Amino acid sequence: MEKLQAALQKAREKRAETLNEPTPTKSARPKSRLLRNDKPDLTTLWADLEPMDIDKTRLRRRKLLTIDAGHEATPFDMLRTKVLQTLAANDWKRIAITSPSPGSGKTTTSANLAASLSRQSELRIMLMDMDMRRPALSNAFMQRGTKSTSDVLEGRVTFADQALWIGTNLAISMNFNAMRDPSDLFLRQRTSEVLDEIEKTYKPNVMLFDMPPLLVNDDTSAFLKNVDCAMIVVEAGVSTLEQVDMCEKELAEQTNVMGMVLNKCRFHSDGYGYYSYNKSY
Ligand SMILES: Nc1ncnc2c1ncn2[C@@H]1O[C@H](COP(=O)(O)OP(=O)(O)OP(=O)(O)O)[C@@H](O)[C@H]1O
Ligand SMILES: [Mg+2]
Repeated sequence: MEKLQAALQKAREKRAETLNEPTPTKSARPKSRLLRNDKPDLTTLWADLEPMDIDKTRLRRRKLLTIDAGHEATPFDMLRTKVLQTLAANDWKRIAITSPSPGSGKTTTSANLAASLSRQSELRIMLMDMDMRRPALSNAFMQRGTKSTSDVLEGRVTFADQALWIGTNLAISMNFNAMRDPSDLFLRQRTSEVLDEIEKTYKPNVMLFDMPPLLVNDDTSAFLKNVDCAMIVVEAGVSTLEQVDMCEKELAEQTNVMGMVLNKCRFHSDGYGYYSYNKSY
C-alpha cells in the first residue's frame, strides 16, 4: 500500500512537471494568483470555444437539473460543495466518475455536477466524455456533431475545435461515435500528454471525466493514471454491496477514492431521487 501511495505521488509529480508547474501543494497553487494573472488570455481562449446551443426546458426533461439554481439542483449543489472542499484539501483537480455496473447514473451525475460547479462563476470547469464504447454525454446535452473526444485524444482535431462551452466557464468535450477498443487509446502515453496540454492551456479548476462502469471492461482502469481521484456512483437497490466493495478496492489500487454518490434513491423526501454522500479515504 505504501509503495502504491509512493507511485501515485510520483505520477502526480511527473504530471506537475509536464504542466510546468511545481508539485501541487496549497502554497504552490494559490487560486487567487491563478485567477488574477491568467484571466485576460484565458477568457479569450474559453470564449473562442464554440457555444453550445441548449434548450433548458428540454434538458430538464433529460434530468439535467442544475443549469439554473433551484430546488431540483440542491442535491447536486450539496455534492458540488463537498467535491470542492475535498479537491481543495488534497490539491486534486481531475475526477473520474464511475460505477460498479452500467446504468447507475454516471453520465447524469457528471453532467449535473459540472453544470452545478459552473454556477460558481470564478471557476473554470471541464467535462470530458471518456465512455468511448457507449457515449451518452451528447445525448444528455441533446447535441449532435461529428468531432469526438476520441478525435482529440488521437490528435485528429484540437480541443479548441472540438469542445463546446456553456455560459462562460463550462467546457464540454463529447463523443458522437462509439469506439471499439478504448483501453488501447487510454493506455497510450500520447493520451496523457494531450490531457496535460489541455489542462496547461485552459487551466480548468476542475476536470470531470464521465467513465464507463469499472467492472464491465478495463477501460476505466486503463484511464485512471490520468486522474487524481475517482467518485463512485451507486444505484440504490441495484448495485450490490459486493459490487460496491469490489469497485472501491479496484479503484483504491490505482487512485484516490473520493467518495460515493447514492443515486436513484426512492425514499428521498424531495422526490427527485438524488441523494449523495461523500467520504474521503
Ligand atoms: N436519480 C435518477 N432518477 C431517475 N432516473 C435517473 C436518475 N439518474 C439517472 N437516471 C436515468 O437512468 C438512466 C441511466 O442514467 P445514466 O446514463 O446517467 O447512467 P450511466 O451510469 O451513465 O449509464 P452507462 O453505464 O450506460 O454509462 C438514464 O435514463 C437516466 O435518465
Ligand atoms: Mg454513462
